[in-house]
Amino acid sequence: MCGIVGYNGKDSVTDQLLESLELLEYRGYDSAGLATLNETTGKVKLRKCAGRVADLRKICQNDKKISTCGIGHTRWATHGGVNDVNAHPHRSGDVLLVHNGIVENYEELIDHFMLHKELKSQTDTEVVAAVLNKFYQGDPHEAICKTVKYLKGTFALVVMFVDQPEVIYAIRNVSPIVAACNQNGTMLASDVAALGSTADKYMVIPEYVITELHKNEIKLFDLKGKPVEPHFMDIDWDTTRDGKGKYPFYMEKEIMEQPDVIKATMEERIIDGKIDLSGDGVPDEVLRDCERICVVACGTAMHAGLVAKSLVQSRLGMHMNVEYASEFMYGNPVIDEKTLVLAISQSGETIDTLEALKYARKKGAKSIAVINVKGSSIARESDYVMYTSAGPEIAVASTKAYTTQLAVLFLLVGRMAKVRGVFDDGAEKAYLENMVQAPDKMQQVLDQKHDIHKIAREMLDAKDAYMLGRGLDYSILLEGALKLKEVSYIHTEAYASGELKHGTIALITENTPVVATVTQEKLKDKELSNIREVQSRGASVVLFVKDGIDLADAEYADVFTLPAMMDEFMVFPASAALQLLAYYVSMDKGLDVDKPRNLAKVVTVE
Ligand code: M6R
Repeated sequence: MCGIVGYNGKDSVTDQLLESLELLEYRGYDSAGLATLNETTGKVKLRKCAGRVADLRKICQNDKKISTCGIGHTRWATHGGVNDVNAHPHRSGDVLLVHNGIVENYEELIDHFMLHKELKSQTDTEVVAAVLNKFYQGDPHEAICKTVKYLKGTFALVVMFVDQPEVIYAIRNVSPIVAACNQNGTMLASDVAALGSTADKYMVIPEYVITELHKNEIKLFDLKGKPVEPHFMDIDWDTTRDGKGKYPFYMEKEIMEQPDVIKATMEERIIDGKIDLSGDGVPDEVLRDCERICVVACGTAMHAGLVAKSLVQSRLGMHMNVEYASEFMYGNPVIDEKTLVLAISQSGETIDTLEALKYARKKGAKSIAVINVKGSSIARESDYVMYTSAGPEIAVASTKAYTTQLAVLFLLVGRMAKVRGVFDDGAEKAYLENMVQAPDKMQQVLDQKHDIHKIAREMLDAKDAYMLGRGLDYSILLEGALKLKEVSYIHTEAYASGELKHGTIALITENTPVVATVTQEKLKDKELSNIREVQSRGASVVLFVKDGIDLADAEYADVFTLPAMMDEFMVFPASAALQLLAYYVSMDKGLDVDKPRNLAKVVTVE
């Protein structure tokens, strides 16, 4: 979390930083700030405020934009509340600093360096600035080396020393920093999307390497002062964002894009009517020889893993674990060289997923990452990567990333079935025939968005809502509930409907909103009977039901019919419907749909 940026070049640094901070804002939007250093006058200008980058822009609007070297930050608060003082950059003496990560031992450092009286904020970052300043005697390398030896935790630090106005310094542990150079200057940032559209090459700053950003070059040094050769990579994907278009929010735009991006995700992996993963470089042996599969992921990405688990167990008859990446290591997972770990992540930067992946690889597991953002940390850490073609996902609530992850996972399972001899050509063909229908079936739901909007209007006053389903429906609803709670702030829980009578049903009272999906032919009778149980206790039930499933003459508050597909694929149309439901509730409540409170798009702290 938190976005950091630095620019040193020919152009006005304030404009450059503000533009990049806008692109990084999805990493945190509690507060924003920038510091500029005028090389001619040696004057520092520090601007920061609680609020959005737009608020920072207002503060800067009358500034003379003459400096060409500076650093900036957009914050997701970890230590200390959201206010102007805690916003970055922090200044201590000659040191100006922005930070992404968490310095775990900051309290020890306060005691050790006797900083109590000089700190103005409650942040761990200001402590680092103060320690750097203690060590700074005119030699930035010496101060940085001495400081990082004291730091425990994760950090990406970008530093300016007031008496070194021509250079920006950076160093990191775990938290990412990428850097690029173009004809106008040099830049660094938390991710490639913020580097600006003019760069065509970038580098990932290696851990514990001191980076110097000069006006026309980037120099790297190890902690002993030995130069490190920079390793540049091509930016071979489009990082530009084309705005919200005709939509009021990115979330709606991204929901509506799903049929296209799912097609794009499948396109290069279905060749001559067969699943072909050669473009991903995933060898068949890896899929054939593994004995166990384990998913590590967080939030929505973890829910995609749960859907894949149903498929793996039903189609491949293989054991599969799906773990919260943040809990993975504490459960002493059984991992060995016969385990295939799937790390699923939109951003590719989620620290829990990254650490879980590293842990599994140390135990000998092979790994495939399912990632949206190219070149991201998890993609680099994994043996193999399968990219989703969702394109930039800006809304904090994940929608198209989820369904493109599903598309990749369905293809991966299909290929595994083939190489393990479960599918013959005919079975593969039948499987793919269903798969390729997914975009059209989703489109049919999206075309009826106004009907779902009507359903959403009935839920605006709800404080709590429940979602009920069995089997795959339960997995689908876990994601549906996450979506509704994160964008609408309605407390929503998904329950396996068979569990109701073991406690949850006590929560149902008159008019409690209950959302149910009934998409699985085998389970429909039991699901419908569980729905009747909550209706008998006053619940107001909204039903999303697969076309063709007979509801007899039962009555529901609302019924939305989902276009029919083979049961396993019903997740595609059902997810589109649940995403729209969450979206419209949030929008009609007048909330900031794309930037829900307290959240950040990329979670880079544990
Ligand atoms: O970037 P990742 O896919 O690794 O992110 C994982 C979760 O943080 C993310 O899916 C989160 O749950 C979304 N806000 C859900 O909409």
